[in-house]
Amino acid sequence: MTESSVSDHEDAARPRIIAIDGPAGSGKSTVARAVAARIGIPYLDTGAMYRSVAFAALRSGVDPEDADLVANLARDLVLTMHPDGTVIVDGFDATIEIRGPEVTRAVSIVAANPAVRSEMRSRQREWATEHGGGVMEGRDIGTVVFPDARLKVYLDASPEIRAARRSKEVADLSYEAVASDLARRDALDQNRTHDPLAVSEDACVIDTSHLGVDEIVDRILELMT
Ligand code: DC
Repeated sequence: MTESSVSDHEDAARPRIIAIDGPAGSGKSTVARAVAARIGIPYLDTGAMYRSVAFAALRSGVDPEDADLVANLARDLVLTMHPDGTVIVDGFDATIEIRGPEVTRAVSIVAANPAVRSEMRSRQREWATEHGGGVMEGRDIGTVVFPDARLKVYLDASPEIRAARRSKEVADLSYEAVASDLARRDALDQNRTHDPLAVSEDACVIDTSHLGVDEIVDRILELMT
């Protein structure tokens, strides 16, 4: 076998992963879903998985700060991520609740737990193998979960624009409340010890502050050619 046929073979065996990372409000979910739909491959929102663990902890009265109990709960969790975005946690449809304020407050602590991260990472890799790849959205997909992803994109936007986008989604909170919660979550995600939010050195960084969804998706599709 020549060197190139070996690498061609390895390339064919590798799940086809498009990693889309970035902070909250950078446009990741909308863009990742649209990219997956345009190419016709599956999509996984890995943030929803951490949210599901936080939801399960709150639901069963486990303190999100109790690292050992939350780790056990994460290992035992029966989690089904449906392609239409429905999330079933231990048989309960948690699609709406995982986006609620209680889960949003608790999730950064849960996501900083190394045992939870290890469990979610295994599940994310299994998902990719089962589906033969897909668009995976999160904080550490290009840096940790799939460092050899076919394409790595890091979406970013100014804190003000990210807060403005988020406050449109949560009608009952003021812009100031959303902005300060986002700054708190940014700090926790970027400064945690395990797999912090970071830009992979081989990622393509796109500032989405002044771009529409279609423009961002087109740019990502161009990067794939
Ligand atoms: O994207 P999101 O806001 O739904 O993410 C929820 C939380 O999970 C947030 O605190 C970041 C964390 N997260 C993570 O640590 N690693 C990922 N791959 C995805 C999300």
